[in-house]
Amino acid sequence: MSSAPQRYTVTAALPYANGPVHIGHLAGVYIPADIYARYLRAQQRDVKFVCGSDEHGVPITIRAQKEGVTPQQVVDKYNAIIRDSFQDFGISFDIYSRTSSKTHAEVASGFFRKLYEEGKFIEQTSQQYYDEKADQFLADRYIVGTCPNCGNENAYGDQCEKCGTSLSPTELINPRSMLSGNQPVLRETKHWYLPLDQYEPWLREWIVEGHKQDWKANVYGQCKSWIDQGLQPRAVTRDLDWGVPVPVEGAEGKVLYVWFDAPIGYISATKDLLPDTWETYWKDQGTKLVHFIGKDNIVFHCIIFPAMLKAHGDYILPDNVPANEFLNLEGDKISTSRNWAVWLHEYLQDFPGQADVLRYVLCANAPENKDNDFTWKDFQARNNNELVANLGNFVNRAVVLTHKFFEGKVPAAVGFTTEDEDVLRLLQEFPARIGELIDNYRFRDALNELMNLSRLGNKYLADMEPWKLIKTDAARTGTVLHVSLQLAASLVTLLEPFMPTAAARLGAMLNTEKGTWPQAGRPDLLAAGHQLAEAALLFTKIEDATVEAQVQKLLDTKKANELAAAVSAPAKDDVSFEQFQQMDLRIGTIVAAEKVAKTKKLLKLSVDLGFAEPRTIVSGIAEHFLPEALIGQQVQVLLNLAPREIKGIQSQGMLLMAENADGSLSLMQPSSPVRPGSGVA
Ligand code: MF3
Ligand code: ZN
Repeated sequence: MSSAPQRYTVTAALPYANGPVHIGHLAGVYIPADIYARYLRAQQRDVKFVCGSDEHGVPITIRAQKEGVTPQQVVDKYNAIIRDSFQDFGISFDIYSRTSSKTHAEVASGFFRKLYEEGKFIEQTSQQYYDEKADQFLADRYIVGTCPNCGNENAYGDQCEKCGTSLSPTELINPRSMLSGNQPVLRETKHWYLPLDQYEPWLREWIVEGHKQDWKANVYGQCKSWIDQGLQPRAVTRDLDWGVPVPVEGAEGKVLYVWFDAPIGYISATKDLLPDTWETYWKDQGTKLVHFIGKDNIVFHCIIFPAMLKAHGDYILPDNVPANEFLNLEGDKISTSRNWAVWLHEYLQDFPGQADVLRYVLCANAPENKDNDFTWKDFQARNNNELVANLGNFVNRAVVLTHKFFEGKVPAAVGFTTEDEDVLRLLQEFPARIGELIDNYRFRDALNELMNLSRLGNKYLADMEPWKLIKTDAARTGTVLHVSLQLAASLVTLLEPFMPTAAARLGAMLNTEKGTWPQAGRPDLLAAGHQLAEAALLFTKIEDATVEAQVQKLLDTKKANELAAAVSAPAKDDVSFEQFQQMDLRIGTIVAAEKVAKTKKLLKLSVDLGFAEPRTIVSGIAEHFLPEALIGQQVQVLLNLAPREIKGIQSQGMLLMAENADGSLSLMQPSSPVRPGSGVA
């Protein structure tokens, strides 16, 4: 787009309503999109920022099956959770819609019908797996079987998660239906395909030649490699009972493929927002359309959806698709099924009122060009060293000193020194500099520039030392604070896209409101005599114990995952009943316990087994139990294991323990105390 756009349509990927949202979603999509939209508004641009829940497709029906509820219950539940999380994090959508809405059903089926009637699809029959017991065709994800590549017995019909190979269901060895467990049969079925191959020359020209310069390298690279590999017709319908019904005759039991209907959700959301004027935001060439997405969505937004829009003919195409890479968590891939995530709703329970801190950290560390790692240590360090020590400190000093020396009124400036002039000149350059970075989707750099502005303020205060100057020169002190407060006031506007709550609190403290972006660097934002409100801390220090608790929560998750993933050892060979009866199993009570000198693992135990004397048993459990904690405990003992000498001690029997998958040990105790020496049979 060469001339300045008249208006903007900004979209953020519609999250599947099959689980809550986590930091990866925020960092990858919603924070950059929100910064962009807020920045455009501050530029007084005409912008609509649209999103909503993606409520169709197999991700929803699988979740419903797992939770034992209906797909409708799944989407109702998670749509509400997701919508609230976005609101709590200040994601300023103009509308958050749902693809289950009536408008969406109309828009999506209308879109399909137009393409259908104009002969833009090809009809094709193919053999697909069918579950005769469940009486339905099986989506790829509903079929499991043995991976032809690595032998994993639980590979999915579209991918083996063990070796990463992408598969098609017919490649699986011994396929089984996840619905009934039965072996599925192949049946003929008809579907509609978008012949992407026909759009290849156009896509090549539009993307490979047209967007080499302005699309991000990761996005451009993925598109080019898809196009270079050659595009194939893509089915845009599915045999499924959850979704937008295919609106043509002879398509009973078929729905639109979720990746056909979901991006149309951007259009229907806009229509829900603006029933009368939505078309200008989608059909007028003066509109700049920008899609914010994660990298797993690139092909759908850069190739398939544009081909759909092109086939339709009435719509504009995206000007840019700024996709981010992935955010990892403490060195591991974020995963909903493994519960390896920081969930937004849980974060706010643990850090109430601190949404902006997470917004800051996720933007400062955003995976813009490569995958990145979120760690709690980095979170703490950025809060304490950057938000508290830099930004918060600057603003706080300026406001507190003004209260202390000038009754909270902006002092007048009486003649600027070159230092003052330098600072005010630099200040005026910031809005354009930060803005240009945002215009180019470089949000990390933009945020860093913003922090440079407060660094400039801190350095200025440190150089001028108004707290000392006041003793000798009140007028000069006033000028220094006057200049500092102009910087602080500019932050109200410049901070807002990144940390809207902090910006509003700063505005309240300075008794001023955010202004427009181009005006934000003016050197006269606060007039002499303007009354400030009370000083308040914008950010607070995060203590070690707080982040340690979060790390512990993750360690607990990791442990739970390991235990869940462990498999039982294979069964041993059979023994006869007689052989079993030869073993003398008893319950005893530990009456004394001590470490065996010069060993790490051994404990010497005295166990009351109902005989005149307790038995001595040496056991290799010293790394698992403190001796004193064992005294009085009942345990299971193999009484007639042949005595052995261990470290010079005669051991007369063996303690039996349950060994957990992580190697931890647990005593085998009767559910209520029994007389020592009682037999186990
Ligand atoms: N629900 C998809 C995901 O979470 C994104 C859909 S984006 C849309 O990956 F364009 F299709 F809406
Ligand atoms: Zn495999």
